[in-house]
Amino acid sequence: MERIFGRPIITQDEMQKRVRELGNQITVDYADKNLLMVGVLKGAFAFYADLVRAIRLLLRVDFIVVTTRATQKRSVAGKIKILSDMAEDVTGQDVLLVEDIVDSGMTVSFLKKKLLARKPKSLKVCTLLDKPERRKVRVSIDYVGFTLPNKYVVGYGLDYQNRYRNLPYIAVMDKVSEAEELFYWQE
Ligand code: IMP
Ligand code: MG
Repeated sequence: MERIFGRPIITQDEMQKRVRELGNQITVDYADKNLLMVGVLKGAFAFYADLVRAIRLLLRVDFIVVTTRATQKRSVAGKIKILSDMAEDVTGQDVLLVEDIVDSGMTVSFLKKKLLARKPKSLKVCTLLDKPERRKVRVSIDYVGFTLPNKYVVGYGLDYQNRYRNLPYIAVMDKVSEAEELFYWQE
């Protein structure tokens, strides 16, 4: 018996295929660089774990934990905080920031500013999902897994109130209040 939530907007197969493609692209692009990957937690944990294993380079991994929003409201400038900082020194490194989703762009823009101040050799951003319709600040993204319409999604690391992160696919959450009703059991 399998527990299903919502309708997958991105299936496990599609996800695996796209992660492999991104991994191949990053492997080529960073072949002669000092790749230091930085996963943005919590949301990126699932994508990050799969992505690093799709890259065939002597890369190093690190994490940064930022505050997540409690509601569906957009991120508010000044309310984004680093809860736990990286352990590695980024100075002179080719840093690749890995995000789950870029929505208003506030979080990525905040993190880019923080990391650039530490003088990396280069800084690029990879996000699994992009919702360009919701952008509030201009921010350049170097690698995008999937571009989505303006819908709230959960699964594969993405949450609603810290739930649904363990879904192995991405599902649309149409009516948050009816979330529980969207669960059903499939034989
Ligand atoms: P931004 O700062 O508005 O770009 O938002 C970035 C953060 O908001 C992401 O890292 C997510 O944690 C969260 N977020 C934005 N859209 C969604 C969504 O559709 N589902 C789950 N989390 C989201
Ligand atoms: Mg979140």
